[in-house]
Amino acid sequence: MAFPFAHYAFFGMALLAWPLEAATTTTTTTELVAPADDDNSTEAELGIPSPTRISVGGMSSGADFAVQFQVAFSETVMGAAIFAGQPYRCATQRFPNDTMMPPNPEVPVCEGCPAGKTLEYDHCKYNSSVVEARLLKTVAQNYASQGLIDSVTYLERARVYLYRGTKDNIYEQGSVAKTRDFFAEFVPASQLLFKNDIPSGHAYSLPGSKPWPCGAEGLLSNIPFQNCDYDGPGAALQHIYGGGLAPPADKASLSKLKWFDQKPFYGDKDVTGLARWGLVYVPTSCEAASSRACDLFVSFPGCGFTSYSTFVLLVTNLNFNSWAETNHIIVLYPKLASHGSTKQQQEGCWNVYGQTGANYATRDAPQMLAVRQMVKQVSNLKIWGPFSEYSATVSHARCSAYITIIILFVGMLS
Ligand SMILES: *[C@@H]1O[C@H](CO)[C@@H](O)[C@H](O)[C@H]1NC(C)=O
Ligand SMILES: *[C@@H]1O[C@H](CO)[C@@H](O)[C@H](O)[C@H]1NC(C)=O
Ligand SMILES: *[C@@H]1O[C@H](CO)[C@@H](O)[C@H](O)[C@H]1NC(C)=O
Repeated sequence: MAFPFAHYAFFGMALLAWPLEAATTTTTTTELVAPADDDNSTEAELGIPSPTRISVGGMSSGADFAVQFQVAFSETVMGAAIFAGQPYRCATQRFPNDTMMPPNPEVPVCEGCPAGKTLEYDHCKYNSSVVEARLLKTVAQNYASQGLIDSVTYLERARVYLYRGTKDNIYEQGSVAKTRDFFAEFVPASQLLFKNDIPSGHAYSLPGSKPWPCGAEGLLSNIPFQNCDYDGPGAALQHIYGGGLAPPADKASLSKLKWFDQKPFYGDKDVTGLARWGLVYVPTSCEAASSRACDLFVSFPGCGFTSYSTFVLLVTNLNFNSWAETNHIIVLYPKLASHGSTKQQQEGCWNVYGQTGANYATRDAPQMLAVRQMVKQVSNLKIWGPFSEYSATVSHARCSAYITIIILFVGMLS
């Protein structure tokens, strides 16, 4: 597999080098350096007041997990931003029209399959016509009545934003609509927003001038943010927090992004798959212990962000932090490592396929619990330091940054 990637990357460089060269003389970027996995120098605790309103979001696998988190913890989670996500516990549910398949390690759990049979992998993304939202509603109701997730009545308060680019060829047409249908079983229509007319691929749509082509095909379609002149993260936060947010900051400061230690949340690390370090963005207005109480948005990356460099690229290219800066929202970015034995786990995807057992979508499932603990303890997160200065390696030209991004995202393909 390595050879074709290298081939494409070379092609990508050739493609991009010329048009971006012009920008190299004036622009510099600052690099956000990650601590090593075995660097134990956490000193400071964040020491900020506990956040008040909590929301979650993500794209792709991260959106699947955000759906799961919203549903399981609906008493404390007020809303969700779902950029291409499946319905709750959909990947492991047999629907009447599903085709039965031979056993497959990527589909370790199936509710309703006969012995020795399982579901088609990713039926909720690629074959979503079989999905029946009402059946999944019953699943959530049953879980709630057994006390495995919060009471579904809390979902009446949730504010849910959903997005699917018209050129998304991973969450195919109809798939995210089923997620909307699932939420519509619980959430009033006025609190649901489904944006499905922007011509992006499988990506966040961002505003601004960065040349991430909108709806690009081939190589560039793997970049998880595209400039479609529509501010997806902003629209999602506006919807969740009821509109009236202040305009975003021009540029979020890198120095407000801090690495926090995920070790206290590991549980069984092979099961939760947590990386050593995650990122948290703390706006200026929320920094001090005496500051106002702020809100919290938890942003889950999709599959493939197992290296710190791709993770940093994602976090710094999305504009959640710019909105957060002016609206007193702390943004938490938990991070997974490559782990486990399935392809999903090794790519650092969230557990939405039952990789560690059938209870993966409940409050006590290892990953769910780990993130819940992070949320509860966000004011006391241990921050990488005293070295939490960011090496301001100036003079990286924009061109080389873009090419690095292309190469990194091409490397994520599988
Ligand atoms: C950090 O702590 C772990 C476990 O206590 C230890 O194995 C590792 O060597 C430490 N790292 C450093 C750089 O001291
Ligand atoms: C999708 O579902 C239909 C039944 O609705 C089935 O015939 C088909 O084999 C499934 N798989 C694919 C890849 O279409
Ligand atoms: C399942 O398949 C039957 C027969 O093709 C069809 O009538 C029915 O609408 C399908 N159900 C769903 C949920 O698509």
